[in-house]
Parts: sequence; structure tokens; C-alpha cells
Amino acid sequence: MCGIVGYIGNRQAAPILLDGLSKLEYRGYDSAGIAVHSVDKINMVKSKGRLKVLEELTHNGSTLNGTVGIGHTRWATHGSPSDQNAHPHFNKNNSIVIVHNGIIENYLKLKKKLEKKGYEFISETDTEVIVHLLDYYYSGNPLQAVTKIMHRMEGSYALGIIFSDHPNELYAVRKDSPLIVGKTEGGNVVASDVPAVLKYTRNVYFVENEEIVRMTRDEMEFFTVDEEPIEKTSVEIEWDINAAEKGGYEHFMLKEMYEQPKAITDTFSPRLKGQDIVIEELNMSDQDIKSIEKIMIVACGSAYHAGVTSKYVFEGLAKIPVEVDLASEFRYRNPLLREGTLVIVISQSGETADTLAALREAKELGSRVLGIVNVVGSSIAREADNVMYTWAGPEIAVATTKAYSAQLIALYLLAMKFACVRGELTDHELAAMVEDLKALPAQVEMLLNNKNKIQRFANRYLAAKDVFFIGRGIDYAISLEGSLKLKEISYIHSEAYAAGELKHGTISLIEEGTLVASVLTQKQLYKKMISNMVEVRTRGAFVLAVTNEGNVEVERAADYVIYIPETNKYFANSLAIIPLQLFGYYIAIGRGCDVDKPRNLAKSVTVE
Ligand code: F6R
Repeated sequence: MCGIVGYIGNRQAAPILLDGLSKLEYRGYDSAGIAVHSVDKINMVKSKGRLKVLEELTHNGSTLNGTVGIGHTRWATHGSPSDQNAHPHFNKNNSIVIVHNGIIENYLKLKKKLEKKGYEFISETDTEVIVHLLDYYYSGNPLQAVTKIMHRMEGSYALGIIFSDHPNELYAVRKDSPLIVGKTEGGNVVASDVPAVLKYTRNVYFVENEEIVRMTRDEMEFFTVDEEPIEKTSVEIEWDINAAEKGGYEHFMLKEMYEQPKAITDTFSPRLKGQDIVIEELNMSDQDIKSIEKIMIVACGSAYHAGVTSKYVFEGLAKIPVEVDLASEFRYRNPLLREGTLVIVISQSGETADTLAALREAKELGSRVLGIVNVVGSSIAREADNVMYTWAGPEIAVATTKAYSAQLIALYLLAMKFACVRGELTDHELAAMVEDLKALPAQVEMLLNNKNKIQRFANRYLAAKDVFFIGRGIDYAISLEGSLKLKEISYIHSEAYAAGELKHGTISLIEEGTLVASVLTQKQLYKKMISNMVEVRTRGAFVLAVTNEGNVEVERAADYVIYIPETNKYFANSLAIIPLQLFGYYIAIGRGCDVDKPRNLAKSVTVE
């Protein structure tokens, strides 16, 4: 996590750095800092707290003069959020300054060695090791010093570096943390992610692992770790710059919830050709699809929840066995991937460290890896054998909504495609499903427009301590996501349970007034769910139900019912999640939480 930026050019650097950091705050926001080279020295300002503290301290950058600088917004890994631990970090005589995104895994060993050589550490960060190491190896040639430290460091890093005796140069280097650079009118920029530079350029270079960039005002050169020059071509970014603005909504999260109908449409429409599903980017022949024996889905957080939903869809529709695993578990459990296993990794950012590592592990074990990714050109998108993009556009709020919804659509399309090719879905059945798919955007919109009802209900539960979400089958997968939405932004403890599992221990936590949100979208499971709801209700729970229109029987067992429109049973998640997202959002608002930037979180989890 953490976001880094850098600028070298003809303009004042500080305002550009602050502006870039404001677009990267989603990567971390517990402290921020900038360093600018001015005449013969480097000036630095950094502070604990949000970027606005830094903006105030520097009068929006006007107190720092100079046209070469680097900046950082932090998500603490080593050392608590504090002024001292905030980046940038200096070497001992303030002649080298760096910003870092990533983790240096062998920093303790390096720190001990450096301490023996007389280096003193003033922060608790792993980053400070890097700048002292640079100082140790530096003898007037920045490129050489950078390559030397690369041989010594283990772990992940994206770095921005300034050497005060090379005031017309800015260095950047990357290993396993994202980094892009771009040429602008009268200068060059570097950043962790595209939105930070979009205002200045649409042509960016994706820096690959172990590549070094040397920038001057007019030039940009790339080198390998052996100091060999590399030729690179730029990529044009097509995003709409306004997509990353709030556009009149109070929060990005609300705006992004409202963008779900579009995200859903944009994800399915290019892949529907008449009544056929065509996923060109799959690059799999019918024979390839027929020979899939198993699907292994790997992801983190909400993307994992989308994967859990799709297990029911792939198995139910295409009759392919599916295993779903958390990327952080998968990568260390020596997974058994046999020939015939298709590995699908799902990620909004395309940079999640565990998911990326799982992808690499799967490729190393000889599996074909399909990435379902939102951010174009991200590491996962580039490293997967094939990539199927979710066209949700930039997602800024830390809690995902529209990217999750788009992931579901991509997974439905894949399952439908596989089912057709494998002869498990007739043309007639497919046509009906396609009609249901096309109806989803309007149905989602209708549910969003019902937000006042959800808000009124949420206001009754602002003081809740524990909330349980229960469901069976796909409804369990929906519960997982509903529960995560609530807890991550409102800080109310919540748990999702497979409804039948509750009485194997957890039911002892139900007491008078405990809210139990029950999801019932699967007709074949209605009766079983109603029994589970009655069980908790007789123990004092207040039961909220999310169910299909027409299932009025549920009113016997629930205290409050939210109805969702009829759809294909495999698509129910796309509708049932909407009131649950709104519920989490309004509870968080009612409790005065910062919904777009919940405490301790970051949007892009680039450390494991
Ligand atoms: C929750 C949320 C996270 C992400 C997870 C994976 O609202 O957004 O749980 O889903 O960190 O991130 P990506 O999809 O970027 O790999």
C-alpha cells in the first residue's frame, strides 16, 4: 500500500505532488509528506494525519520552492502512524531522500549491519534502511548505488529517489509494487497509479519488476539492474478523468453504488453478440473449455466473495467442480493443481500482493491463469495468461461496490459460456438467462432508488454491537459480502454464517435485540432458511430478511422484509447485495464514520 509520486520539470513541484497524492490517498492515508529540491538542498515537510494536514502545513505547497520533488501517502506497516515514521526519509546528511511503497523483508538484518557501520535510525520504518543503504553505496553515481541496493534488498519496493548533488535527476525503481511514469509538457512524472498523473498525461510507461528509471526535465531512460538501457513503449490510458471525481455525490461510495447499473452493462454488453456469449480475450477453443476438469478461484476480500458466489454458478450451470481459496492461504499451502485445472484470479486493483503471488505460484505450477481485473494494465492483468476486464471504471471508495458487481457479471458470463460449450445449457435456456442479465441494470437502479427506506431502517441500528448475516448456498456468499460491507465502514462487529451452521456454537451469541440479516433468494432453500430465522427469533433476535418479491411467507419469520425483483436464481447476488451495501453505508454515515476512507484500511493492498 502507500502511494508515491514524483515530479521533475519546469513547474513548481510541490502543488503537483500534493495533487498527485490526493489521487492516491486510497492507497493509505495515515500520514503524508513531500520533499522538494531547492537551490542547493532538499526541503521536506511531513506529518501524521490526512493529506489535508500536509496541505495546510505547506499552504498548498507554496512554502516549498523547487521543480524536483517526491511525495508519499502512507499506510503504516512498520512503525505506527507518526511524524517520525512518515515518508520521505533522509540519509544522515540530508543529501539523499526517498519515498517507498512496499516492505523490505530483510530490513532487520540490514539495519543491524548498518548500525554496526555507525548509521543511526530515527524512525521505526523498514524504509529508513533503504536510504542508509543508498548512502553507504553512494560514491557519486546514483544509478550504480541504486543497482547495488537492489541486490541487497529482499521484499517489495517502489521508490522515488533524489540525490542533492544530482539536482536535475529523479530516480525511480520497482520490484513487486506498482509504478508508472509519464512524460508531460515540460517535465516528467512518476506515481504508484495512473489517476495521480492523468491530469498531466495519458501516455504512461508501466515500470516492470527490477527496472530503474532515470528522469530529467526532458528525458526518461530505463535500465535493468545490470545498468543496461531498455527500450519501452508507452500505453495510452483511456479513462475518463471525471470518473475519479465525486460528481455531486456526498461520498465516492454512494456515487459508485449508483454507477453499478452502468458497470454491469459495460461488463456484459461487449460480450453479448445476439444471443451468444463471445469472450474473445479468453483465447480458449471449445476443446480447451471442454477439457477443464476443475476451476480454482483465488482472490481476497470482496473479490473472494464474488468467487464464492461463482462456485455455485459454475457448478450449477456448467457442472465444473470449483474450489475457492483466499490468496493469502493458497500461496503457502502447496496447492495441488493438476492438468485440466483452470485458475481464475479476481482483483479490482490488479495489484493485491497475495493475489499476484498466487497467480505467479499457479503459473509456476504449470496452470493456465485467467485474471478478472478492473484496472487496465495492472500487474495481475499483465501477468495473467488471459485477462477479462470488468468495465467498472476507476473505483475510489475503499469499500468496493461497483467493481464487485462487475466481477459477478464477468463470472456469470464465463459460467454461461462454459455451460453452453459443454452442452449443459440449451439455446432456449441461454436466451432466457441473457434476458435476465439485461434486466439487471434497471433492477439494480430500482433497488438503489429505494434507499430512503433502507436509511430509515439503518438509523434504528446505529448502536448495534453485533450483527449476523445468514444465508444458504449463494445466499451465504451474499451474506459474506453484506457482512464485510457493514463492518469495514461502520466498525460494527458482524459475521456471516451459513444459516445451518449457526446452531453449532454461534447461536449462543444471539440475545434480545441482536440483528440477524437473513438472505433468502434461493427458492429451494426458503423453508430451511425460515426455520433458521425462527430459531434466532425465538431467542430474541430482530430478523431482517432480504428475499424475492412474492415470498410473503417470510413475513411470518421476519420483523422487517426487503424485497428484490425476480431474476434468474444464479443472478440473485447482483440484486440482494444492493440493500446490504446501502445498509452498511447508512449505518456508517449515521455513526459519523469516514465511509470512503475507513480506519486502518487502504484500497490497494500491495503488501502481504
Ligand atoms: C472490501 C474490499 C476488499 C478488496 C480486497 C481485494 O470492500 O474492497 O476486501 O476486495 O482487498 O482487492 P482487489 O480486488 O483489488 O484485489
